[in-house]
Amino acid sequence: MANKKSNPPKMMVPNWNLFIGLVKFTLCAIIMAFGYLLLEDDINEWINRKPLPIGDINKRSSTSDEDDWNKTVNGIHLRSGLHADPNLQVIIGACTSCHSSKLITQNKATREGWKQMIRWMQKTQNLGDLGKSEPVILDYLAKYYAPKEEGRRQNIDVEAIEWYVLDLEE
Ligand code: HEC
Repeated sequence: MANKKSNPPKMMVPNWNLFIGLVKFTLCAIIMAFGYLLLEDDINEWINRKPLPIGDINKRSSTSDEDDWNKTVNGIHLRSGLHADPNLQVIIGACTSCHSSKLITQNKATREGWKQMIRWMQKTQNLGDLGKSEPVILDYLAKYYAPKEEGRRQNIDVEAIEWYVLDLEE
């Protein structure tokens, strides 16, 4: 009799464990499936990544890219887009930490006008005191980013234009 009474629980225990095991397994599978769905693109990208050609690796380890980037072409410093000048690093250091140098290259002003813009930034945009750099910066700005006197654009020099025939067939 005692055996018969204790039999049902003995039977239940392994079944219950099996059930919990199945639930755990299913949960794991679901979590993994979700993870895969989330990362699918990244995983595929990683699997299909192209090996870097040896040339690129060499380029990376040498400083030639960096040199190219620091180059000056037609008086424009490529990295910053600012006009090349012995004092350029002062301007880069003082003026490009908060915003792009484009804000400078898109503006034109007299020395006084630039001074006012700097004052405005100091008043309203947390620009600090520029100290000894200020006259250097103002000289630079007034020299390269002065208002142009010849109007909005230079007149077109018809003689200098190289005309070409627009080929619509292609
Ligand atoms: C502390 C941060 C900071 C620094 C450093 C800074 N600026 Fe600015 N500047 C700003 C902010 C903020 C604006 C507003 C940007 C906007 O409107 O999107 C701005 C705007 C400008 C503008 C546009 C003004 C206008 O009227 O549209 C110019 C030009 C400019 N800055 C030039 C300079 C120059 C030159 C220097 C170096 C002396 C400099 N900035 C340094 C924060 C700074």
